Amino acid sequence: MKIVFVASEGVPYAKTGGLADVVGALPKALASFGHEVEVILPRYRKTQPGNIVANTRSLTIPLSSGFKFAAVQEVEGAGGVRTYLMDCPEFFDRDQLYMAGGKDYPDNALRFAAFSMGALEFMKRGSKPPEVIHCHDWQTALVPAYLRSLYANDPFFEHTSVLFTIHNIAYQGLFPPDIMAEISLDKSLFKIEGLEYYGKVNLLKGGIVFSDAVSTVSQKYAQEIQTEEFGYGLEGVLRNRAESVQGILNGVDYEEWNPATDQLIPANFTPENMQGKEACKKALLEKMGAHQAAMDRPVLGIVSRFVTQKGFDLIAKIANELMLKDLYIVALGTGEPEYEELFRSLAERFPEKFLVRVAYDNALAHQIEAGADLFVMPSRYEPCGLNQIYSLKYGTVPVVRATGGLDDTIAPFDGENGTGFKFSSYSAQALLGCIEQALKAFRDRNAWLKLQQNCMKQDFSWTQSAKSYAALYQSLYEAKLRKNSPKSAA
Ligand code: ADP
Ligand code: GLC
Repeated sequence: MKIVFVASEGVPYAKTGGLADVVGALPKALASFGHEVEVILPRYRKTQPGNIVANTRSLTIPLSSGFKFAAVQEVEGAGGVRTYLMDCPEFFDRDQLYMAGGKDYPDNALRFAAFSMGALEFMKRGSKPPEVIHCHDWQTALVPAYLRSLYANDPFFEHTSVLFTIHNIAYQGLFPPDIMAEISLDKSLFKIEGLEYYGKVNLLKGGIVFSDAVSTVSQKYAQEIQTEEFGYGLEGVLRNRAESVQGILNGVDYEEWNPATDQLIPANFTPENMQGKEACKKALLEKMGAHQAAMDRPVLGIVSRFVTQKGFDLIAKIANELMLKDLYIVALGTGEPEYEELFRSLAERFPEKFLVRVAYDNALAHQIEAGADLFVMPSRYEPCGLNQIYSLKYGTVPVVRATGGLDDTIAPFDGENGTGFKFSSYSAQALLGCIEQALKAFRDRNAWLKLQQNCMKQDFSWTQSAKSYAALYQSLYEAKLRKNSPKSAA
């Protein structure tokens, strides 16, 4: 099958979070099964230039508010994946991907409308249509909406299905209704069965409604988003399509995240020889400015977008209790000013124990995975979460809230089996209790070693999940064939 990924970020080109990791790795796994896989991404100011492998092609994007002009470059993609960067400076040549100074860019609807329509126009230039277009989050939700409206009678896409993956339902792309006319959406689509949502245009809703199937990134989250607590208002829309909604757990790319081969950490290590981990811990503490790296103290690592989703208000509530304990907390992240300030102030109040870097730093993210003893993710909700899975591979024991993918990937340690520590209720006391349980286990060296070995043995490589996606694409393809085939003589 020919499968085209349309996404707003993907490693190694541009990344703000886990979506980019998925878009970097899943296509490679699919290509290894023999599928023809393409990825289309915007070219931002920050986008890694990449090696250009074909002539740049120009593209006209016929948006209703005015034609836009883009250039598409084919750049080197890993594992036989063809990767295209869409350059449209008026929209993408900016400092950030989605927002500046804590505020969304005001023309985000137009930016991603141009990208989504541009992706469809670009596909039409190809030699053959894709069997499946795989879209991700609100930024590319207009692809299915256009395909089922503007392009509904275009024979090129007659046999093309769309899979829409929700990586985070809290980000929906909400815009005032007058945007419809600017982004080529007929006003007849502004209805409850279409893009209308409490008087606004909701792009994510359009993605759910107009796609052939919807997936999300863990089974637990697929259930959760159909409830009021986690659905952010779209639970009813999803329940209406319940038979077309499924959860497929993200995998991880062990070419990038593997302590045995990782080039970004000071020493490599394996389950059989853990010496390198000790060296990583020492180097990490020194790099973060610990006065004299106390190696017997446990290091609790955090690498995250600093946003409400991630549950750091719970850390704020128990900071005093934590600081009475013999430990270090090493935290790396950027995001909302409120949480950046929280971490900065904790570092100021407890400089001996709270080691903080407010930054986006991929190498340091790897070094924390390698050098920490524990990894803390107290998320309010977590569609999948990748860092806890990376942590497992580095023998860094996850302490997580039992939600979404965190619940699906971490099993509680009972002294023999299990891979981490989990708490359920979203409360500071529950988190504290869970950390205390983990610290107690840390002091029992034999049990700890066993736990680390359990973690490092886990295999979350993409192969299994990519097979589930391939099966889903195949079923979409077959359903489309059945639908399009002329009625049998009977
Ligand atoms: P989310 O997508 O919600 O941010 P995930 O756990 O799925 O959460 O993925 C986060 C990804 O982003 C991981 O690869 C993580 O290492 C990376 N990341 C997050 N914040 C930073 C940062 N400040 N510096 C470097 N990498 C980061
Ligand atoms: C989102 C989610 C995260 C998930 C990632 C990749 O950003 O917040 O849990 O792992 O997408 O699917």
